[in-house]
Amino acid sequence: EKAGYPHFMLKEIYEQPKAYRDTMNSRLSEKRDRVILPEITMSDEEIRSIRNIQIVACGTAYHAGLVGKMVIERMLRLPVETDVASEYRYRDPLVSRRTLTIVVSQSGETADTLAAMREAKSKGAHVLAITNVVGSTVAREADDVLVTWAGPEIAVASTKAYTSQLIAFYLLGLYMAQVRGSVKQEEIEQTIGAMQSLPEQVESILEQAESIQSYAEQIAVHNNLFFIGRGPDYLVAQEGSLKLKEISYIHSEAYAAGELKHGTLALIEDNVPVIALVTQPALAEKTVSNIKEVKARGGNVLGITCEDSAELQSEFDHTLFIPRTLDMLMPALSVIPLQLISYYASLARGNDVDKPRNLAKSVTVE
Ligand code: F6R
Repeated sequence: EKAGYPHFMLKEIYEQPKAYRDTMNSRLSEKRDRVILPEITMSDEEIRSIRNIQIVACGTAYHAGLVGKMVIERMLRLPVETDVASEYRYRDPLVSRRTLTIVVSQSGETADTLAAMREAKSKGAHVLAITNVVGSTVAREADDVLVTWAGPEIAVASTKAYTSQLIAFYLLGLYMAQVRGSVKQEEIEQTIGAMQSLPEQVESILEQAESIQSYAEQIAVHNNLFFIGRGPDYLVAQEGSLKLKEISYIHSEAYAAGELKHGTLALIEDNVPVIALVTQPALAEKTVSNIKEVKARGGNVLGITCEDSAELQSEFDHTLFIPRTLDMLMPALSVIPLQLISYYASLARGNDVDKPRNLAKSVTVE
């Protein structure tokens, strides 16, 4: 059932190109110029009347929701908040009949996510679920459901579910933007075109697994590590850090690169590994200056950047080049090496990759 892979996690990492295609392809018009979501029951009028959007989820799904916020704010120019589901109720969230609440859950059974969803519903929000399990509790109770077609995810550490949640957000953002007229047709087509190249681009990253493994083996002896990035890179850094902690048990923190010098830089000393994501051309220069601060204190930097940014290589101790796509779509590529780093670091430490200690695949208690 692992189809020749030593672990479900590795199998699921390699299934991502297919998961992207399956989640995306049936939802594009034949001419590939529009997103079609017949499963969405919200009328165009309802979509036009949305005033604010709230995204609630836990763990990795929450990290997908952070990317969702960025995507929807860019495409719809509407205010979006992303909350950890377990915290959502405690702030007496501001919900109206013109609020769209998006719940994100691979399993569709997470207790905190369910509780947040019920709270939003009782306050009058329209609830849309992004889930991987048809017929799950979240899917049954939501007003609208967008299924991620990632296929069953067995490993406790979520990989293909996260990336197909990203694809779902891109599709949903484009769809609502079409209805609201907030993105030009040309840009819609350009985004769809770029999305269709993602599966092949993921494959080309997977081909670098060997060099990623050798880097992961080097960091596996450390007990402390940092991920840094700005903008979308920071969002992916947070997911990379969770994944690493979860299965390798190495303590790590994700920091907005600009925030390091406000305290955390004190923790950087000789040989502390720092994984820096530098995929956003408009933000690269500033992240590079943060990298220089890290290096001046002895930090050992892996730079993850795009193939067209060879000039950045001299700023890093190790470099991993990944393909370039639109800035907003970069998370769907840049998270792949981070998944592989956690996998190989966990393996090098002799951990049970698919069943990390203290964790369960579906968390049904609050
Ligand atoms: C981490 C992980 C968890 C889940 C979280 C939410 O790899 O898998 O953080 O993402 O427990 O689960 P779902 O998406 O099923 O609600």
